Amino acid sequence: MNEIYEKLKKCIKSVREKTNFQPEVALILGSGLGDYAEEIQIEQTIDYTEIEGFPISTVAGHKGRFVFGYVKKVPVVIMQGRVHYYEGYPMSDVVLPTRLMGMLGAKKLILTNAAGGANYDFKPGDFMVITDHITTGVPSPLIGPNLDELGARFPDMSEVYSVRMRDIIKKVAADMGIQIQEGVYVQLTGPAYETPAEVRLCRSWGGDAVGMSTACEAMAARHMGMEVCGISCITNMAAGMSSEQLDHKEVQETADRVAKQFKALVTEIVGNI
Ligand code: HPA
Repeated sequence: MNEIYEKLKKCIKSVREKTNFQPEVALILGSGLGDYAEEIQIEQTIDYTEIEGFPISTVAGHKGRFVFGYVKKVPVVIMQGRVHYYEGYPMSDVVLPTRLMGMLGAKKLILTNAAGGANYDFKPGDFMVITDHITTGVPSPLIGPNLDELGARFPDMSEVYSVRMRDIIKKVAADMGIQIQEGVYVQLTGPAYETPAEVRLCRSWGGDAVGMSTACEAMAARHMGMEVCGISCITNMAAGMSSEQLDHKEVQETADRVAKQFKALVTEIVGNI
């Protein structure tokens, strides 16, 4: 059997020894949304350290555990703290938790992140529904022997972010009086923020936001047939677009400032998809 698939099976076994919970929706929480998981009706939690072979996140502000529970009666599994490529893990480990949640039965995936705005129409604190992504800046998580058990060798990526889900997000946001942007997310490796020239490049490619996560997870999820949507919290204007220098503190502060609204939005989305 393929090494990566074997590792996944080992992780699944480890999780299944601890819970029989059957999630419908999987959620990955980005910066600022980390404590969302504490506000849901929690049934069970499993720390990543309890799962044999599981990659552990090292970024401050990212907790490392799966939370199983209910949001508006919908059974969900929440990844509280994700794994980033810049931490040094191979891409197959970065997307392992996403695949795991799919293998636990989740058919739908909601991705969230903090991102830099590359579109001059955006401002810090805006939310952006991800319409598409560009992953040219990072290795594909699907490189290597194909995991035939999960999906096809050459999967279609023409609608990574479900139009159906995007429409629901826009409707839910409108009903809540939340203005929502739309755009293309560009994933780069980090951990350094981009240079102004890189941001201009992203914009010329058609990118509206830049970040260090998400698109690889979306790709792995689509490979295995999950329905995917994503929302970015624009925490700052990307490098070179304002007079300010970038720092993680600003990202965290903006994320914290809009966290309450972001959480309310996510709750309504789960309840409606
Ligand atoms: N660039 C990359 N990742 C980010 C940014 C950014 O400007 N802001 C938050 N995450």
